[in-house]
Amino acid sequence: MVGTKIAIDGPSGAGKSTISEIVAHKIGFTHIDTGATYRVIAYAISRFNVNLKNEKEIRFLLDSINIDIKFLEGKQFIYLNCEDVTDELRSPKISSLSSYISKFPFVRKKLTHMQRKIAEDKNVIMDGRDIGTKVFKNADLKIFLTASLDERAKRRYEELEKKEIKTNFEYVRKSMKERDTNDSKRSLSPLKPATDALIIDTTGNTLEKSVDTILKIVRDKLSELINNKK
Ligand code: DC
Repeated sequence: MVGTKIAIDGPSGAGKSTISEIVAHKIGFTHIDTGATYRVIAYAISRFNVNLKNEKEIRFLLDSINIDIKFLEGKQFIYLNCEDVTDELRSPKISSLSSYISKFPFVRKKLTHMQRKIAEDKNVIMDGRDIGTKVFKNADLKIFLTASLDERAKRRYEELEKKEIKTNFEYVRKSMKERDTNDSKRSLSPLKPATDALIIDTTGNTLEKSVDTILKIVRDKLSELINNKK
């Protein structure tokens, strides 16, 4: 079956990307991390010193940059004007900037279009904030992945430590909380579960346990889709 769409939404640090990547690999789907598309615009704004208060400048930047997404052995790589910037997108500064710029309608319009285009004719697991509510409203399966703020902040802090990005736990927790509020309170495609999404809380789970839970739900859905086709 080609063109199956699985949407995984949820707040930052819920493990969406990590879990989606592992599950996609196990079932032979492409994993698309849409957060990276917002992050690359934030990165470009920062790199080209665009004035955040001037919407015109942001629009101009969006029209003048070239963003490319490639997949290699199940991993997603992001190119800005032909340069691989994948590893530049995870800093706390880019995290909050990407949340800030995600409120602009022209940013969302461009990225939603891009995300749909990349997923065209592919079996995908796409993760983000508005996949089940906007990008693929008719997704075959919608999961809303969440966990307590403390646990998400702890996971993010450990992830940043591993990457040797200097920070402290309180700062990570505070910015995550701000980002949650920002992402769920914006008027356009706010972070919220689709009415037909399965809500999965991973608080207290190991990564393996969360992967197993999602993998089972996904496999059950794929069997159902295959059986319905017969
Ligand atoms: O998933 P992430 O943490 O990499 O996303 C970074 C920011 O991008 C997030 O705080 C809000 C925005 N975003 C969005 O508005 N819609 C999406 N589908 C994905 C991300």
